Amino acid sequence: MSILIRGGTVVNHDHSRRADVLVDDGKIVAVGDKLQGSETIDAGGCYVMPGGIDPHTHMELLFMGQVSADDFEWGTKAALSGGTTMIVDFCIPAPGESMLKAYQAWRHKAEKACSDYSFHMAVTSWSPQVHDEMETVVKTYGINTFKHFMAYKGALMVNDDELYNSFRRCAELGALPLVHAENGDVVARMQQDLLARGITGPEGHSYSRPPEVEGEAANRAIMIADMAGCPLYIVHVSCEQTHEAIRRAKQAGQRVWGEPLVQYLVLDDSEYQNKDWDYAAGRVMSPPFRNKKHQDTLWAGLQSGTLSVVATDHCSFTIKQKRMGAKNFTQIPNGTGGLEDRMPVLWNAGVNSGRLTKEEFVAATSANIARILNMYPKKGAVAVGSDADLVIWDPKATKTISAKKQVSRIEYNVFDGYQCLGVPRIVLSRGKVAWSEGDMRAKPGDGDFVARPANAPVHVANAIWKGKTRPQGVKRVDVTP
Ligand code: URP
Ligand code: ZN
Ligand code: ZN
Repeated sequence: MSILIRGGTVVNHDHSRRADVLVDDGKIVAVGDKLQGSETIDAGGCYVMPGGIDPHTHMELLFMGQVSADDFEWGTKAALSGGTTMIVDFCIPAPGESMLKAYQAWRHKAEKACSDYSFHMAVTSWSPQVHDEMETVVKTYGINTFKHFMAYKGALMVNDDELYNSFRRCAELGALPLVHAENGDVVARMQQDLLARGITGPEGHSYSRPPEVEGEAANRAIMIADMAGCPLYIVHVSCEQTHEAIRRAKQAGQRVWGEPLVQYLVLDDSEYQNKDWDYAAGRVMSPPFRNKKHQDTLWAGLQSGTLSVVATDHCSFTIKQKRMGAKNFTQIPNGTGGLEDRMPVLWNAGVNSGRLTKEEFVAATSANIARILNMYPKKGAVAVGSDADLVIWDPKATKTISAKKQVSRIEYNVFDGYQCLGVPRIVLSRGKVAWSEGDMRAKPGDGDFVARPANAPVHVANAIWKGKTRPQGVKRVDVTP
């Protein structure tokens, strides 16, 4: 049965036009005028945009001794209610654990997903087994991204040698390495120093992870990617130091992308000074929120294109779980929510303020990441042949974000009380109405895994800089020593 979405304005990353959209069998089959369908949705006065893609989530993740509260069912329901029709979650093997085993565990957890999803694979240690399994992950499982934590010392952190090995392997496989950029050694020392000075509350979290430790790690990862001959994607970019490193690398011809979070764009570090411990602990995540100066640079990056994608790093913990760190901020499970709020908050703070055009909004929430992750135009476009993941967006409708009314399973919301002008009215996932004006129709199991093929591999032997040889297509700027 076909669905006609009639009378709206189609918004893609590169253009907008008044057009009807015809959907059949999960795909967009026509975009144009005077189309006919068996069922009609009136989109008059609304924008018809590609469903959002959040490339950074952690569902049901065991982290810092706690399992994050939103699982694939509730996380994807939260996503759909906010206009996001696909998430990319991190499959994280414990150091030494087989990636293939971790992949099976994540596939099992994701069986109850209500929207489409994909995975990044984390590299948490290095060995011949990891080297070999990376090929299976790319070629058999359809995962073309590998995540590396430069922080969380003693848990997930990898060192520079491990980064270099893994980045080289990514280059061989045509995969894209991702990094959580923070200098984990320095953070660990600063945490101990702060505790020794009697600073045990959530504000200590922010003091122990200043922008400098993020910027240093970002620069280091960019250099290692350059030497290994691979591109790089930096997750949760929070500050000018990291943005500056990305700008500089881009200018030198390196392929480096940066992902700010919607939280960083509207919330600042004064949140950690709140006298209500639960309130402040609810905002503890890494890297932490920054001051207004850093917010401004992130907005400027999105406006100018030096930053590409807005994500959430949705990793929600209940107050009870956060209280594990009541006496010691280093034990507060790191993570916040935001999946259902990302699109309305970004629209309100970005489009309504004039910082972003509606096309740039689509780029930052959907199209750019679809291209970076090699799944465009299946995802990220309102175009014939694309999956019918669509959000019918009412720019005149309002919503006040409320923890009490949210879909997410936690009791608080970092955006509680935030007023949004412009919200989703109806959300379609592969051609089916998944959410309509508060009515959740998607069911566990409706979501499909989205495989993402590798890019053309880089010949690593060529990528090693031996004085004069620069790899073709890897560097645009040739430096002759
Ligand atoms: O605090 C955060 N970001 N928690 C989730 C794990 C990570 O670092 O992405
Ligand atoms: Zn991280
Ligand atoms: Zn994360």
